[in-house]
Amino acid sequence: MEGVGLRNVGSHCSLAEMDDFDLSRLLDKPKLNIERQRSFDERSLSELSIGLARGLDHLDFTYSPGRRSGFDTPASSARNSFEPHPMVAEAWEALRRSLVYFRGQPVGTIAANDHASEEVLNYDQVFVRDFVPSALAFLMNGEPDIVKNFLLKTLYLQGWEKQIDRFKLGEGAMPASFKVLHDPIRKMDTLIADFGESAIGRVAPVDSGFWWIILLRAYTKSTGDLSLAETPECQKGMRLILALCLSEGFDTFPTLLCADGCSMIDRRMGIYGYPIEIQALFFMALRCALAMLKHDAEGKEFVERIVKRLHALSYHMRSYFWLDFQQLNDIYRFKTEEYSHTAVNKFNVMPDSIPEWVFDFMPTRGGYFIGNVSPARMDFRWFALGNFVAILSSLATPEQSAAIMDLVESRWEELVGEMPLKICYPAIESHEWRIVTGCDPKNTRWSYHNGGSWPVLLWLLTAACIKTGRPQIARRAIDLAETRLLKDNWPEYYDGKLGRYVGKQARKLQTWSIAGYLVAKMMLEDPSHLGMISLEEDKQMKPVIKRSSSWTC
Ligand code: GLC
Repeated sequence: MEGVGLRNVGSHCSLAEMDDFDLSRLLDKPKLNIERQRSFDERSLSELSIGLARGLDHLDFTYSPGRRSGFDTPASSARNSFEPHPMVAEAWEALRRSLVYFRGQPVGTIAANDHASEEVLNYDQVFVRDFVPSALAFLMNGEPDIVKNFLLKTLYLQGWEKQIDRFKLGEGAMPASFKVLHDPIRKMDTLIADFGESAIGRVAPVDSGFWWIILLRAYTKSTGDLSLAETPECQKGMRLILALCLSEGFDTFPTLLCADGCSMIDRRMGIYGYPIEIQALFFMALRCALAMLKHDAEGKEFVERIVKRLHALSYHMRSYFWLDFQQLNDIYRFKTEEYSHTAVNKFNVMPDSIPEWVFDFMPTRGGYFIGNVSPARMDFRWFALGNFVAILSSLATPEQSAAIMDLVESRWEELVGEMPLKICYPAIESHEWRIVTGCDPKNTRWSYHNGGSWPVLLWLLTAACIKTGRPQIARRAIDLAETRLLKDNWPEYYDGKLGRYVGKQARKLQTWSIAGYLVAKMMLEDPSHLGMISLEEDKQMKPVIKRSSSWTC
């Protein structure tokens, strides 16, 4: 990709060029000039939401500001009248130490800088998903170059021929991770990428391509530099990713069928089928691509397919994945073996398959998108990433977003406990653990992917809090993280029902734990940053049905 001639254009783009046509007609509200000196708490939320809505109007790229500062000084700490938390400076230093260089240019951050750990495995690589919070931190701090380098480097890797044994992977697949090999003698740097062919379990990451598109929009939104997204290479990269996930097959649902372990939870955890994490990222990536794709001969066809898919996907998710008290009660009373179009219980879910815990877990007020829905199978587990991305992408209606946050508040002990935030709830144990994980000793109950607590999720929680107007929840969670994270040397995850113990095999100096904390801090301090990672509701996708009656329609 060295050959890509990128124009360095001014900050404001022509609206016609990047017409976010699903939103453009809807959000014609006056622009709010948010004073950055004021703390978020002083600002009214209606002000904030107007600002955000306008900021997203036409994807107009009035910056979600990143500022240039002295190289080592986080702009976010220099601006405040109050003293920043001492952890912020430490976190910046650790984040900079995690930078990975290719031919002298920073191109990403290493997953963990933990040299003490006996097994390096692949933690010395740049993971696409792990780099997202690092990228956001750099963008928020006015350092977009590394993000641009990363986007181009991964785009270049996408062009490789990818093979697992004798089987060739789809052209558009993005790597899970890559590594830079330095040859000191020949003074050469080379890249090696992993598309799943080396990964434990040999699963290709479905989330990487989606994160790539989401990050491209974040970069564009933050810098106002449209020229990168507009290059033929980036346009093609997007189309290739989309071709993979929009292809027609035997599907009867608009959701994306996935193998176990194809996302952040990258080992067998019973998330095969239609996992919420992937569906929410899919939805968000489709919306981001829609805003960035050119309506030229090649792009136009994709734009049309995206619009149709978004419509069907939002209907499906909002209707069938949504669970609240009323919905649960309806499922509990379901009849089974219904045939034909009049069926209420469309997927033939057996009420007996509802696990006991969910009846206690469900508050009277509140709700969430469940983990998975497929024929006769509902995975009732709560997953953090999918639910928060649903809020950020506006896959969740405003009512659903508020309900997700209501549930987080009323189930604080279970979901946050002493360390934000549970990756999923609850853990699976005993016989079920044996069957579902295949006896995975890393994923014992309340550990790692099985109900472990992951500090990286703090940034997603914070973003969702800001979007739904509940900064105080984010503050509470950040306060908790600040009591432990630095002292424990930024672990990858915590174990236990309350997240009190540093994870059994958790890496230290885990980069996304560090970056996630910084992003959470910077967003809370300057909520206008939210615009780079949030999309306003598209009124055209409003459900025609009421949430409580969705099962019967
Ligand atoms: C683990 C996590 C995965 C992460 C990787 C690198 O495999 O499950 O989500 O990307 O570590 O940190």
